[in-house]
Amino acid sequence: MNDRTSNGAVRYRRMTKDDLQMAHKLSISVLWPHRLNDWKFIHGLGEGIVAEDGSGIVGTAMCWVHGSNYASLGMMIVSPEHQRKGIGCELVSRILKEVGDRTILLHATAGGVKFCESFGFVQTGWVHQHQGSVFRAPLVPLGAGERIRPISSRDEPALSELSRRAVGMPRATVLKHLMDVADTVAIDRYGELIAFASLRKFGHGYVIGPVVAPDAERAKVLIAHWAGTHAGAFVRLDVPGSSDLSPWLTEMGLVQVEATVHAMARGEPPRPDPSVTRFALLSQSLG
Ligand SMILES: CC(C)(COP(=O)(O)OP(=O)(O)OC[C@H]1O[C@@H](n2cnc3c(N)ncnc32)[C@H](O)[C@@H]1OP(=O)(O)O)[C@@H](O)C(=O)NCCC(=O)NCCS
Repeated sequence: MNDRTSNGAVRYRRMTKDDLQMAHKLSISVLWPHRLNDWKFIHGLGEGIVAEDGSGIVGTAMCWVHGSNYASLGMMIVSPEHQRKGIGCELVSRILKEVGDRTILLHATAGGVKFCESFGFVQTGWVHQHQGSVFRAPLVPLGAGERIRPISSRDEPALSELSRRAVGMPRATVLKHLMDVADTVAIDRYGELIAFASLRKFGHGYVIGPVVAPDAERAKVLIAHWAGTHAGAFVRLDVPGSSDLSPWLTEMGLVQVEATVHAMARGEPPRPDPSVTRFALLSQSLG
């Protein structure tokens, strides 16, 4: 990607590790909760483009490829003082070239929907953000022969296969990276790993996700496990609207924040295996 000047004094170039501090400041300016470490985590897995002028970085956009057929887009931010000047449009046009003709997924804020539609993205669903503190997690019973256990590196192939089935796209690279920053527990049924959930530090506290399970009861077992072991801490989950977990989460103290996020796709969306479901996202950027 060549540097190029457009929009007056605004230049576009590839994002490097050295940009993350300023990118972090930019995300704070639009009230996003990411810490510098959260930027480092997603940057380690993908590519980004920054827009900068004499004052520093004024815009970002990132992409992550998931095998040869899929990619996701995220961290599309233009500083409030520079919005509606075509910078977001230029960033996204450039990042779309990086991902080629793959199907592209993203999660758009209410304010970003029109912007994303202008690139041909169409809505495929909703994601509800829940957050708060749990002081007494509900007890959700496990089935016969089932137990919760921590995972080890030997479980990674089973985890990425379960995850691949739940989202319909390859997950091995993302999960390998996640294992470095998250704690993960699984439900083991007679020696077979049938569900898992990760928890990691994020934003103002912790995020529980991904949560992958064959049904809502197993997902609740895992969420209650993490909420219970982090009682009183600030916890967040991003749950697909179709998961129907929102009333249960709200009752537990993890209330739904007002702004619902739009799941969008450009191209043929992936086809998950209906026998296993992603009940919470890893993140809005990575799906
Ligand atoms: C969304 C965002 C990245 C757009 O960046 P931008 O530089 O302002 O966008 P552009 O100036 O390139 O806009 C291109 C077109 O997108 C559409 N658009 C952009 N922002 C819009 C808005 N808030 N409402 C309606 N349409 C919008 C318009 O059609 C616009 O063209 P126009 O200004 O000629 O009407 C920016 O508003 C932003 O950072 N928002 C806060 C962070 C955020 O929510 N990011 C997630 C986006 S999914």
